Amino acid sequence: MSLQSLPGFRDFYPDDCALRNYIFLNWREAARRYGFREYDGPPLEPLELYTRKSGDEIVSQLFDFTDKGERHVAMRPELTPTLARMVGARERDFKKPIKWFAIPQLFRYEKQQRGRLREHFQFNADIIGEKGVEADVELVCLLVDTLRGFGLTHEDFVVRVSDRRVWAGYLESLGIAPDKHAAVFGIVDKIEREDGAVTQKKFDALGVSSATVAAILKFADTGEFASAAPAAMETLKRFLDAMAHAGLGQFIRFDPKIVRGLAYYTGIVFEAFDVKGELRAIAGGGRYDNLVKLVSGVDLPALGFGMGDVVLGELLKQRGLLPKVERRLDAYIVVAKEELRSQALKLVHDLREAGLACDYALTPAKMGKQFEMASAFGARFAVVIGDEWAQGQATVKSLAARTEEKVDVARLVEKLTE
Ligand code: HAM
Repeated sequence: MSLQSLPGFRDFYPDDCALRNYIFLNWREAARRYGFREYDGPPLEPLELYTRKSGDEIVSQLFDFTDKGERHVAMRPELTPTLARMVGARERDFKKPIKWFAIPQLFRYEKQQRGRLREHFQFNADIIGEKGVEADVELVCLLVDTLRGFGLTHEDFVVRVSDRRVWAGYLESLGIAPDKHAAVFGIVDKIEREDGAVTQKKFDALGVSSATVAAILKFADTGEFASAAPAAMETLKRFLDAMAHAGLGQFIRFDPKIVRGLAYYTGIVFEAFDVKGELRAIAGGGRYDNLVKLVSGVDLPALGFGMGDVVLGELLKQRGLLPKVERRLDAYIVVAKEELRSQALKLVHDLREAGLACDYALTPAKMGKQFEMASAFGARFAVVIGDEWAQGQATVKSLAARTEEKVDVARLVEKLTE
């Protein structure tokens, strides 16, 4: 019987890991340029951290179970509630605004489909302790520059932005009470991917009249906000202007269809998509000014985004922007005479000690086979330990230039690092 991995879970072979590391490296580099510090939390959390704060959709996708100590626990489906708890617990220890990032692996029991798996890695960047719209600008600039760091341009992706306060103002003007807004956002979040009849059914269940539904859908389409929520509209306008001043206006599009599915957002919200609209969201986030208080009792405004590795990886592949995975060794030690194996072992160890990446055949092998391995492993040099060893020398062959020379063993490190 062959035991396969679970649906929606990936095996990372070395080439896959190399690409994953490339993505992580770019994420860390973007965060560094923006002055964000890295943190992490536990992969397993009390179930309650999510049931009260994240919203129904994510709760229905939890990997949860009762542990041996009778605690009801869940694998983390997102990092934001953990961050809210961590910051609240030691709020006084950190200067504001707090700018932190993390790269957690997350778990959601989703219907497996293109761009959506049951585990993924997510670049999270959050700013805590800053109310002003300048923080929203800083965060979205980081989002855009992170994607640009991979070589993507405004012809590849767009960040669609809206504001839940503007939406809330409009829904109230339609007579929809605030306690129903989260449910409406949950429906609007899906209108682009869902059949119209399903959307209508959901609105019916909420008790929203068909005339009001028509108004909501028109609003989502056209964003005729004018009188809905002037203060929120003004903030959104300042945000859009600032993005243009930063020189990133061409990456941003105001789009009221973006409301976000998670329950805790309170202000500007956004999602990044590929321009052709073929893939699921690359990233999503927004302002969540009440969550830290809900989780920890400490009142701190906050905002952030999450960018997954799955859709991003697909887009980079489509655009030919993934680097070629190459194995690199500085030297492969070729043991030409088996009686010199102990000397070869000592040499390999000395070279590794000096920081060089080296490898050699662990058991006797023909010279040809050893050279084959040297080139398969991407070695720059093959170092042959043979007859010349008696004179304190080894033959160094450059595999690319196809040249060779005898080098004193004492000068080998110098030669190999040339
Ligand atoms: P989210 O929209 O649920 O937000 O996820 C953010 C991104 O993670 C998505 O745009 C997508 O790229 C990726 N993602 C989500 N679920 C999956 C999945 N099943 N398979 C593959 N990729 C996936 C959040 O999680 C918020 N906590 C982000 C945030 C941070 N908001 C504030 N701070």
